[in-house]
Amino acid sequence: MNIAVLGAQWGDEGKGKVVDLLTPHFAVVARYQGGHNAGHTVYVGDRKIILRLLPSGILHSHVSCAIGNGVVIDPQALFTEIDELGRFGYDVSNRLLISERAHIILPYHRELDLLSEARRGERKIGTTSRGIGPAYEDKIGRRGIRVIDLFDRAGLEQEIRENVQARNRLIKESTLDWRPLFDQMLAYGVRMKPWVTDISVFLAKTSAAGRPILFEGAQGTLLDIDHGTYPFVTSSNSTIGGVCTGLGVSPKMINGVLGVVKAYATRVGEGPMPTELVGTSGDRLRDGGKEFGSVTGRPRRCGWYDAVVARYAARINGLDSVALTKLDVLDGLDDIKVCTGYRYGKDVVSEWPADLNVLAKCEPVYETLPGWSRPSSGVTRYADLPREAQRYIAFLEEITGVPVSIVSTGSGRNDTIIREKSAAAEWFGVAIT
Ligand code: IMP
Repeated sequence: MNIAVLGAQWGDEGKGKVVDLLTPHFAVVARYQGGHNAGHTVYVGDRKIILRLLPSGILHSHVSCAIGNGVVIDPQALFTEIDELGRFGYDVSNRLLISERAHIILPYHRELDLLSEARRGERKIGTTSRGIGPAYEDKIGRRGIRVIDLFDRAGLEQEIRENVQARNRLIKESTLDWRPLFDQMLAYGVRMKPWVTDISVFLAKTSAAGRPILFEGAQGTLLDIDHGTYPFVTSSNSTIGGVCTGLGVSPKMINGVLGVVKAYATRVGEGPMPTELVGTSGDRLRDGGKEFGSVTGRPRRCGWYDAVVARYAARINGLDSVALTKLDVLDGLDDIKVCTGYRYGKDVVSEWPADLNVLAKCEPVYETLPGWSRPSSGVTRYADLPREAQRYIAFLEEITGVPVSIVSTGSGRNDTIIREKSAAAEWFGVAIT
């Protein structure tokens, strides 16, 4: 079984923990988009490990990890992450594979990211300032530098020289010299070379040999360049189509889709978020859920679960099942609200609107459910969850039409429920109840 695991909200849904948990059932974990803007947090015992570029399966020594052509790679960030893991005792060097078609983030992409944000002023996107957008711009503009280009001295020299000259013309005060950059890229190529391969061929062979693959998404559905809250999005396809384009695999190779959904909503960066809570209710979720960006440290905006978003993600991605995370953060609340639709003038909108002006005028319509006082934190059997928590989950299943097969009740690997007779139990052959 090859399964895609992707975010169904605005990212930070807890994909890192879910992927890490499921990895023992796979031979390969493959990242299909994004870059080191992602921050996948995994707790191993008391140790907190944040993975940015490397797939979250990397902490399991039996697994190979692939970085697909749809990912943009800052080589320095990659090496830093590999070295950091080395210091923790994880040797990744013989398990890492990098697509020769993946694009490179160059130092000037970071500068351009900052400049673009400054130019937008109050309308800024709130990017992670990692150069992600400008690197993808160069890719689409057909002037990007791919991993394979690092091994073609003459071609690389020409590309870097032309790109730097064009950039110097664009930014008046810039006098960037292409030569040190060229030398740096050649050196990066030397270190990367042992890992570089044709990921599409590798995955096709892996699948043909009956070895299961987990396709790992970064960010979330509402940050997708096509289906998200454009322009307040990232610059790649985080939704299911990205698996095929970002890894060179056929849709027929995807046997199941697991959406990761937080029990409430968060967003980091600018852009619409209809159920956002400001004031003490938002603070309560932020503090309880430790909702601060793992890459930038920015406080995340917090709000109630939004079923319009969840249904949209279910449709776009064809979600078979949901992993519901951070249920324990809702412990102790008297009432819990769920947004079931938006009021727009006299109408109730139940589909996610493309027009941000419409979205800005949408008022969430809430259903209020009772909270629970007995903690769900650390619970590992569904039957042991407070009755009201079970009711909350059943309500989310009902309004989205997607069954919840995994419930995360804490940050540790063991703080997890895999439900009996669920898609997850069927896919992975496990049931803790
Ligand atoms: P960029 O990906 O750095 O260009 O940022 C674009 C938008 O996506 C900003 O709102 C970021 O905060 C958001 N973003 C990018 N990566 C992540 C992530 O891993 N989690 C949550 N938000 C993200």
